[in-house]
Order: sequence, then structure tokens, then C-alpha cells
Amino acid sequence: MLLDVRPHSRLRGARAVNLNDAVLPVLDAVTASDVDLSRVRVVADWVQYRDNFRGVVQSRRIGQATPDTGGLPPPEPLGVRDDDLEIAVDLRRSGSVRPEELHELTAAALSATGDDLPLEDWGPGSRSCVWDFNALYWSALELWEKSTGRGYEQALPGGESDARNTEAARELILELFGVWDRLVTAQALPDELYVLEIGVGNGGQAKVFLDEFARLDQERGSDYYRRLHYLMCDYSAHVLELARQAVAEHAEQVSSFTLDATRPCTALGFLKYKIFLVYVSNVYDNLPTDEVAQLGGRTYQVEIRAQLCAADAAELAGSIGIGIDRLPDVVHRLLRLGPSLLADAMPDRFPDTGAAVDFWRRAWAAVRLDERYVPLAGLDTYDLGGGTDLGGELLRPLLESGADVRMHVNNGALQSFVDSLRLLHPYGRLVCHDLFVTEIEGYRTHFRGPGKYDGSVVNWVNGPLLAHVGRRRGFDVRYERFRHRAGGGNIVTMTAQARD
Ligand SMILES: C[S@@+](CC[C@H](N)C(=O)[O-])C[C@H]1O[C@@H](n2cnc3c(N)ncnc32)[C@H](O)[C@@H]1O
Repeated sequence: MLLDVRPHSRLRGARAVNLNDAVLPVLDAVTASDVDLSRVRVVADWVQYRDNFRGVVQSRRIGQATPDTGGLPPPEPLGVRDDDLEIAVDLRRSGSVRPEELHELTAAALSATGDDLPLEDWGPGSRSCVWDFNALYWSALELWEKSTGRGYEQALPGGESDARNTEAARELILELFGVWDRLVTAQALPDELYVLEIGVGNGGQAKVFLDEFARLDQERGSDYYRRLHYLMCDYSAHVLELARQAVAEHAEQVSSFTLDATRPCTALGFLKYKIFLVYVSNVYDNLPTDEVAQLGGRTYQVEIRAQLCAADAAELAGSIGIGIDRLPDVVHRLLRLGPSLLADAMPDRFPDTGAAVDFWRRAWAAVRLDERYVPLAGLDTYDLGGGTDLGGELLRPLLESGADVRMHVNNGALQSFVDSLRLLHPYGRLVCHDLFVTEIEGYRTHFRGPGKYDGSVVNWVNGPLLAHVGRRRGFDVRYERFRHRAGGGNIVTMTAQARD
């Protein structure tokens, strides 16, 4: 048996997890079962998101590749392990569960009794219905926030978007002015100065940027504000309207577009090579992602399936007076129609929109992800997606960078990044504040999502992968811890700029 305890800081210090309490009952239950102990791995993580998709203990089947070797025994490279099963333990919760209960939870995970209610078929993470929940959250944000009584920003790291930070905005604007000043001298500055913001949220950061821009421009007398075109983009019409209201005093300078962050060129292709700044904050971590893994010398894709545990399914179905078998259909209707139309379509189950929102919130809180590892026949068979010509071979140096690793592909973020680079002026840059894993080692030490931020999904972003892709396209990609927040924090700023 292989035991992998991730070296989280919570293993030490005054409030350290007691590993005996948190892991030994799990190991006891595994050894008491009839699984082949030579083919089991136990992984203990600190799942930092209080709201997440996992049970305290969860089992994951590891599929075996069946290569076509023409009847010969398949080659077995040295150091390859063929595990059948992974048992995942959440150290944040397992230490506070009674040992007998933790033992029982593990035994239940091992026996996989099959009374959970799947909401979908198995598939790559980026295709799961959790992304429909995510999109619904942003499109019906007003209803969700009214029901919870709190704004989405309160769920972000530190309770406020770092893009609202005036100091950071000022620094960015002055760098932009520096580039423009040099282009003026060379008589090469275009009349129209484009800045694009992707995923604008409530417009708080757009307002800080525009206020600062106008103030600094006036101070310097540079006449850039009059030539500025600030393009705000989001896929939620509701969010865009909020942002428009937030920057109403800059209306002359602002245009807004409803578009998918993963394909900005669809609507903005006419601005290729014209945009001086693409500004993104807390969006890449909110875009669909797959996960891949290298375990015991073999490569896997992580497949997931959204589901409800039997007790939650019974409670949820009972609350609207339907049988459990109808529940997946009602959940998918909610995702297609949204709460207001769902209440119209099923008035006997949802007397008003509030009742449908309540159902939505309870369903989301209950959603868990079942996971399994499916062998990848070859990395070249894995497509990173979205018509980006990004092939799976790009992942090889990262997957083969040392010991076992499971990491995000961040397909949506990669697509968005690659498409945005096409829009950049030769002297332009893309600046992104987000939760980046900046070294692959970071995937071996800490849990990186998915977690739930209110009604949305959060996954850390694979920085080395984005940097690798950017460099192959001729861009320098740098990461720097966000410097302007008192007390630090997890946010990192990525800057991508064409190489000289
Ligand atoms: C966490 S909020 C961040 C808002 C803001 N940038 C900030 O830092 O506070 C994520 C934003 O991205 C938008 N978003 C998420 N997925 C998107 C997609 N596929 N296309 C366009 N916008 C998306 C959401 O509607 C929301 O406005």
C-alpha cells in the first residue's frame, strides 16, 4: 500500500492535525477489507475549501490500460505501479470525525454500494454539469445574492477582488502610459487606445481603473483618456449591466460585449493586434478544466461524475414532493431554464421563484463529484480543446517532472489565454490576477480545487502550463505574488508580453 500525506502546513503548529486520528482509522478499514493491498494508494490532503465536492473519505477506481501488444506481454517500465484504487482522505475534516465513524466511512467508500444518485455520465471535468451550475450562478446572480444576503466578492480570497486595488491599478496604468509615451515619440501610437477586460463581475475593478486612468491622465496632461476604449466582456448579461452601472460616469469610453471568455476573438477579431492591455482577474480559476495525472509511471485522465448522496437526494426530492428518480431531470431543467422559468414551468412544485432558488442552493450544496482515473493511451490522443491546436504532448514535461502528480489542465483558461494573445498589440500585455500554481511541485503538496465559492466553482490555474504555451507563441510569461495586499494572500499576477 502506498500512503501519500501531502505536506500541508496544518500538519504542524498549535492547531496541527493529529495524523493518528485523521488517517489510522482509514488504514485500518483498508487493511480489514478484501482489496489487494499491493494495489492501493491512500492520499491525505487538506481540502481548504469548506464547501467542496468531496466526502471526508472518497474512493477512486484506477483503470488499467490495455495496450495492443500483438499478443506479447505489455512492456513494464521499471518503477511502474499498477494500482487499482485510490482512497482520498480530507485531513481538514477526518481528524474531527470519531474513529469508528471514519472507519465506517472508509468501509462504505470501499464497498461503493451504488445508492448515490448520478446527475450525469462519467466524462472529463470540463464537460461536467458543475459548469452549468457555475454559468447559472453568474446569470442569475441577483437572485442568489438576494437569497443568501451576501455579495459574490465576499467569497473571493480576502473578501474583495485584488483588481480593485488602487495602487496596483495605478502601477499598471503608469506602465501603459510609459509604452504610449515611447510610441508617441516614434510617431507610432494609434488614435484608438484599446483596453479589454474579461469577466468584469460587478465592475468594481473597471471603475478603479477608469477613475485612476482619468486622474493620472489629467495630472500628466497626456490626452490618453479621450482616446481610450475600455471594452468590458462577460458571458452574463446581468453582470455586464451591473458593471455598466458601476462605470456610468465613464460611459463615453466604455463598450460592453456579451461573450464567452474562452473565445474573445469571436466578437473582437476585428481588434487583432490592437489591444494594449488585456486585463483579467479571478476568471481563469472559474473556467472549465480537466485534470490529468501521472501515477506510478502511467498517465491518466481524471473523469468525474456529479452526483448526490442517497440521503441528500431523498431529502431534496421529498422537499418538492417528487420521487428520487425524477430528481436529475428537475435539476437539469433548473440548469437549462434558471429558477424564475423553472417556477413558471413547475408551479405545483415551486410556488414562486424564491422556492426554486432555495431548491437550487440546496442542490448545489449537496453536489459531490465521483472521480476515477482512466488510462490515456498516449498523450497525443488527448486534445486540450477549443480549436486551439494545443495537443496533449504539451503536458509531457509537466507530467514527467518527477514523482506522481495530479494537475489541472485549465482548458478554458488556456483557450482564453491563447485567443487573447492574438488580440494584443506588439507592445501590448496581458495581466491576470488569479490563484496560480507557479511550480508543478505545488500540485504535489496542496489541494488545488475544485472548491465551491458560493454558487460558483474554483480551481487553481496551472501556471507552468500557461507559461509553456505562451512561450511557444513568442511571449514572455512572468508570475509575481500580488504585492499590494496587506498581509499577503494567495493571489499571483501573471504578465504575458511579446518577446522583444
Ligand atoms: C469571480 S468573478 C470575477 C469578477 C472580477 N473580475 C473580479 O475580480 O472581481 C468571475 C467573472 O467571470 C465571469 N465569467 C465566468 N465564466 C465566464 C465565461 N466563460 N465567459 C465570460 N465570463 C465568464 C463571471 O460572470 C464573473 O463576472
